[in-house]
Amino acid sequence: MLEKIENLKNDALAKIKIASSEEELKNIELEYFGRKAGKIGEILKAIPTLEPKERGAVGKNANIAKKDVEAGIAARYFEIEEEKYASLATSEKIDVTEPAINKIEKGKRHPLSKFMLECEEVFGKLGFEVAEGYEIEDDFHNFEALNFTPDHPAREMQDTFFIENEELKGYVLRTQTSDMQIRFMEENKPPYRIIAPGKVYRKDSDATHSPMFHQIECLMIDKNVSLANLRFILLSALRELIDPNVDLRFRLSYFPFVEPGLEVDALLKVDGKETWLEIGGAGMVHENVLKNVNIDPKKWNGFAFGFGIERMVMIKYGVKDLRSFFENDLRFLKQF
Ligand code: DAH
Repeated sequence: MLEKIENLKNDALAKIKIASSEEELKNIELEYFGRKAGKIGEILKAIPTLEPKERGAVGKNANIAKKDVEAGIAARYFEIEEEKYASLATSEKIDVTEPAINKIEKGKRHPLSKFMLECEEVFGKLGFEVAEGYEIEDDFHNFEALNFTPDHPAREMQDTFFIENEELKGYVLRTQTSDMQIRFMEENKPPYRIIAPGKVYRKDSDATHSPMFHQIECLMIDKNVSLANLRFILLSALRELIDPNVDLRFRLSYFPFVEPGLEVDALLKVDGKETWLEIGGAGMVHENVLKNVNIDPKKWNGFAFGFGIERMVMIKYGVKDLRSFFENDLRFLKQF
């Protein structure tokens, strides 16, 4: 009996040694430890039928054999696992320096985003920081604090999208980035030099209007700011952003939040001819606006201006239809 146990164990260990997969090991496990006809189990079961003086030695040896075979199987499992991972290093090796089979096209920034980033950089050099806000805006920041009285016709002029949701009653999709003048001044102490680029919304759609478009707002508040400062800042920025030869002209106009209000024209070469193009609005910040954010207009004053980004980019690159910015036609987008 003892010899039988010894042979059984040696057989098992030999099979384990040459097993080359988890599958094979599982079969060996079944052969020796299977519930129904496991060879080691059979021996243990047979012990009670043996001569009493034999039982002790058989039991002991059978248990040692059982442990050895179990340990052998566990060790071989581990080895097989190791071999599998070791071979991954060769079977799944990737040469990252190999040229791609398909040429991967690199994405680029959209011309509008690109221009806004350029604005941040150029105005940044002039000491302006970037302020960001919300596209869903309340009446106070979009209109009231900017000196639009409740019945002001400009509220209609701006073709406002009013939000028709009970919870957001009184909110609008902001019609202008001028709301950021208010938001920034509420939160910070003067002096200020900020730009606020972002999306704005108006009910309007044709070759030069889109219901969603982008504006950039600029605000400078300090002591003794004048229109000369406005002209210098704006001209310096536009010469870097659009054309080094650009010139500017101001015409009197009206916006509730500035006094005087100005329309800004830029002199640019269009198809070889010098032309004055309207590019945005500007002015000296109205004292009511400063009062609305608790700033003393006797101590502080400043200028503001706002421009349409699409219009700027159209002028810069000679784009004729504003809708091309939103059609995502790669033939158009790749030109920038
Ligand atoms: N917010 C105005 C608009 O969308 C543009 C504008 C005009 C902005 C004059 C200004 C400004 O800051 O001073 O029509």
